[in-house]
Amino acid sequence: MEIFLDTANLDEIKEIVPWGIMNGLTTNQKIFSKEKGVNFREHVSEILSLVDGPISIEAPANDVDGIVKAAREYSSWNEKIVVKVPMLANGDGLRAVSILKEEGIKTNVTVLMSTNQVLLSALAGATYASIFFNRVRDYGDDAERVLRESRTILDRGNFETKIIAGSIRKPEDVVEVATAGAHIITIPYKILVQMPYHQKTVETLEEFDKAWVEFKKGERRN
Ligand code: E4P
Repeated sequence: MEIFLDTANLDEIKEIVPWGIMNGLTTNQKIFSKEKGVNFREHVSEILSLVDGPISIEAPANDVDGIVKAAREYSSWNEKIVVKVPMLANGDGLRAVSILKEEGIKTNVTVLMSTNQVLLSALAGATYASIFFNRVRDYGDDAERVLRESRTILDRGNFETKIIAGSIRKPEDVVEVATAGAHIITIPYKILVQMPYHQKTVETLEEFDKAWVEFKKGERRN
């Protein structure tokens, strides 16, 4: 099980990297749109300098040539870059993945909502397949079932493709996707920073701190 951070914000990245729990990072056009006034390539370079592990950058195209062109450019910037390829209804995303696979360029087929889309992504040679957990739920489907089925199919088929569960909206989603079989969970900063907290932990630590003060007050000094 691995955790990626779902952000392009440098301050958020700088805060979480020292936690030692982050194995990579994912972005998309919506995430980048929050970083006002930055230069795309310079910002990606900043992210690359902060993050060890795979960094997913989405190809901003909806045709084979556009996706492949962007993927070749982005992947040339750094070996850590994984190119996000949209799952297109006409199969162009899969065609692009197949081309990029032959060129050794790592891909993350994204915006997946069904088990069939994950299967096709794996067959095309995707490095990662990103299921949008809460958007599957928004649509009314059983997102945990899609995750479980996808993991079963990938395991039984000995596919190398890894499932990334994205579209995480609350800490409880993390447990659900982890137990449903995601290899990787990509978590937004505002969700991740909630995860170390539990009220009973806070209360118990306060109790322990007070107990230690009491102990030290009565300690025999040598
Ligand atoms: C991850 O790679 C996805 O792009 C992201 O988690 C999507 O989240 P959203 O459904 O909140 O847009």
